[in-house]
Amino acid sequence: MKVIQKKDYEEISRTAAERILAMVQEKPSCVLGLATGSTPIRTYEFLAMACQQRRITFEKTCSINLDEYVGLGEADPQSYRFFMETHLFRHIDIKRENTHLPDGLAADLEAECRRYDSLYAQLSGVDLQLLGIGQNGHIGFNEPGAVLDANTHVALLSENTRAANSRNFSSLSEVPHRAITLGMGGILKARHILLLASGEQKKEAVQKALYGKVDPAVPASFLQLHPDVTVLCDFALT
Ligand code: PGA
Repeated sequence: MKVIQKKDYEEISRTAAERILAMVQEKPSCVLGLATGSTPIRTYEFLAMACQQRRITFEKTCSINLDEYVGLGEADPQSYRFFMETHLFRHIDIKRENTHLPDGLAADLEAECRRYDSLYAQLSGVDLQLLGIGQNGHIGFNEPGAVLDANTHVALLSENTRAANSRNFSSLSEVPHRAITLGMGGILKARHILLLASGEQKKEAVQKALYGKVDPAVPASFLQLHPDVTVLCDFALT
């Protein structure tokens, strides 16, 4: 994995946006793997600016997100569909039908997971996957465990993750306990992976992911198995 240390969050975000814009420029019909959370927000702002200034068009671009909370629909401000609309989709010219997230309200969650896997296969591969990382080393909602699911699955959120995400809810009890998430196997199929990590609180997870053993207890360590991962961070690794 290649590590690029930047000065701060702003520079991480600017560099991530430049990479995404370069991909879209080179291949307008590319498939972007997108993430939610606080980390990619500024990257999305840079993408929105570029589109508004007509430096780029996303008209032919597709996106597929990592995950969605079970029980939340797109009208729910805490849903990841709502997040993506608010922070990116409504500010760029991507077509709604080309943007994909799991349906958190699906009646049959298993069927929804299989639908998402076949959608992923139909898109013929993610060209560039943007990732954040949890303090516990999770990727998407692939939480630390004894084994990791390769395919899209319903994940039980760890208490660590629910507590971290509770900042976006009015109370911890409102944070869903489950989410639909791409599995590590799917994530590792992307051609290029860009992992963003900002702040000292992420340092230990990144350190373990990069230099520890490949271990389901640190899902991000599976990125070591991928040939093209770039980590953009604003701290020094030892
Ligand atoms: P964050 O979350 O960007 O809000 O820190 C990242 C993650 O949990 O994957």
